[in-house]
Amino acid sequence: MTLAGKRVAITGGSGGIGAAIAAEVVGRGGTVTLIGRTEARLKEAAADLGPRASYLVADVSDGAALDSALEQAGPLDHLVTAAAGGVAGPFADVPEDAVRDLFETKFWGQYRAVRAVLPRLPSDGSVLLFSGFLYRKPAVGLSAFAAVNGAIEGLVKALAVEAAPVRINALSPGRIDTLGGGEPMPDDARREYVAMAGREATLGRIGTAAEAAHGAVFLLESSYTTGVTLDVDGGLR
Ligand SMILES: NC(=O)c1ccc[n+]([C@@H]2O[C@H](COP(=O)([O-])OP(=O)(O)OC[C@H]3O[C@@H](n4cnc5c(N)ncnc54)[C@H](OP(=O)(O)O)[C@@H]3O)[C@@H](O)[C@H]2O)c1
Repeated sequence: MTLAGKRVAITGGSGGIGAAIAAEVVGRGGTVTLIGRTEARLKEAAADLGPRASYLVADVSDGAALDSALEQAGPLDHLVTAAAGGVAGPFADVPEDAVRDLFETKFWGQYRAVRAVLPRLPSDGSVLLFSGFLYRKPAVGLSAFAAVNGAIEGLVKALAVEAAPVRINALSPGRIDTLGGGEPMPDDARREYVAMAGREATLGRIGTAAEAAHGAVFLLESSYTTGVTLDVDGGLR
């Protein structure tokens, strides 16, 4: 199966890995609807992609706004749910509300998007959810990510059974050179992060959004792959 002529909605499509997936879909002849919170970012990302890209503003933690955007997106073949926030800090210190906020975007945001779209996906359609390396390679101060990623990977396996023949998969990025749901780092901290990512990954470097998107395209196009979480992580496990 190819993405030519396919219609794909991408939450988090205005930046990072979601934007790189949008570029791959358009490059293969598909059309994309980008969903995010910031109109200026969405407008610029859609303009960069040309006439087969459009956008809708919605926060994935607002169920009504997300439902409405996905309704306005019209008929779809694939759903990609890349939008997520982030939280870091020692388990004992991170406020519970901050962890709940992460779950609102990264778990419930994905869950709600799937609920809204699944009933109208065609039998050869698919959903691509997002996990992340912190489930298989935990790190101090990032336990909330490990928990939410584990929840998504469980959902993927169960939903694949229930949604068949629609395919349900997830991408688990390793350390990728994007914002990762956080704010831009100061230059020094960014350099240290990139160096640390290189030390930890088997491939000796941080990954690019385009490399993560390549794995995403495989999952969208592979007509006999479902219930899978694909690690695109440079060997970081
Ligand atoms: N980058 C990594 O190293 C890494 C590692 C493991 C897993 N992941 C996972 O990969 C996925 C994509 O991450 P990324 O690195 O591409 O993130 P990113 O660079 O921070 O991009 C996030 C995108 O989502 C949008 N977004 C954020 N919060 C949103 C919300 N509440 N509602 C709607 N849109 C929202 C952002 O636009 P606005 O802010 O304008 O809304 C942006 O377009 C996430 O699930 C992340 O946890 C990333």
